[in-house]
Amino acid sequence: MRVLSGNQPSGALHLGNWFGAIRQFLALQEEHTCFFFIASYHALTSQRDPAIVRENIRDVAASYLALGLDPARSVLFDQSDLPEHHEIAWFLTCLTPVGMLQRAHSYKDKVARGLDASHGLFAYPVLMAADILAYDADLVPVGKDQKQHVEIARDLATRVNNEWGDLLRLPEPYTLDESAVVPGIDGEKMSKSYDNTIGLFLPPKALKKRVMSIVTDSTPVEDPKDPAKDTVFALYRLFASPAEAEEMARRYREGGYGYGDAKKALLEKVEALVGPAREKRDDWLARPDDLEDVLADGARRAREVARPVLERLRTAVGFPARPRG
Ligand code: ADP
Ligand code: TRP
Repeated sequence: MRVLSGNQPSGALHLGNWFGAIRQFLALQEEHTCFFFIASYHALTSQRDPAIVRENIRDVAASYLALGLDPARSVLFDQSDLPEHHEIAWFLTCLTPVGMLQRAHSYKDKVARGLDASHGLFAYPVLMAADILAYDADLVPVGKDQKQHVEIARDLATRVNNEWGDLLRLPEPYTLDESAVVPGIDGEKMSKSYDNTIGLFLPPKALKKRVMSIVTDSTPVEDPKDPAKDTVFALYRLFASPAEAEEMARRYREGGYGYGDAKKALLEKVEALVGPAREKRDDWLARPDDLEDVLADGARRAREVARPVLERLRTAVGFPARPRG
């Protein structure tokens, strides 16, 4: 199976991203050929500062490598190296009913939240469809909010195949397990839009401060506590083995165990995950040439797949086969 997913380079990754998405992407690379790309063109729908764009692209690449993406096994590339996606997007655009895009939830939500309704924002499901169809992807791991876009890609592939012949593979969404919605430090869903995240790459001191500031009720240390109602426990449980979680739950119920103690135990777990990754990320960022080499190699391997798909389409729509530079 060929797996493909893209990530918008937009700000620091957090524990919600890890449990809800990244950890599951990395498991897929054990069994499948995976293409992971940095959705740089998509980022321009909301980010206009070139310095931030550049920095965020490097940040995603270094973060994914540090967390375990293996560039020998998976293809990691930057979308901005593959203008082929745009040419494919145009063929799709010409078969896209406007109403289909008007029904896209993500567009409607973003406009409702005050983002400018640019043509780019409106049309981005078509570019996303091209991102997927360019690689003959079978599976596209995405969160719930992006599932409709994968359905759009499937619909557009069908339209192309009906119009121009059997050219494109129909992708399936691979729904990430979001049953465990990771709570933020205020107990609401962790999200960068709510400023309640625990960042994966915070320096140790800032990480400690963030964990210590998780909101709890004011039950005194000596009193019994209900683990099911507490955010610290909910986060701890994500990291812990069932036996460890049961042990902490027992201490909560018994009394004499404070939220401060639970926070310390949680911090140890978070640090065990992010400590080694933090070092690896710093190491990648200190070697920008090596990072560029990984992305250049990724772009070359991505092009080997996307080019033939593009050529297939160009021929099918009736474009003459002249040598192109
Ligand atoms: P944010 O809400 O911080 O903007 P994104 O929408 O960029 O996060 O999410 C990227 C991926 O991480 C998605 O697949 C999403 O489902 C997952 N994710 C984000 N926050 C959480 C969370 N609190 N719990 C579980 N998964 C999450
Ligand atoms: N639109 C996705 C997001 O906002 C990112 C993305 C772009 C993507 N192209 C993709 C995801 C192709 C999967 C496949 O998160």
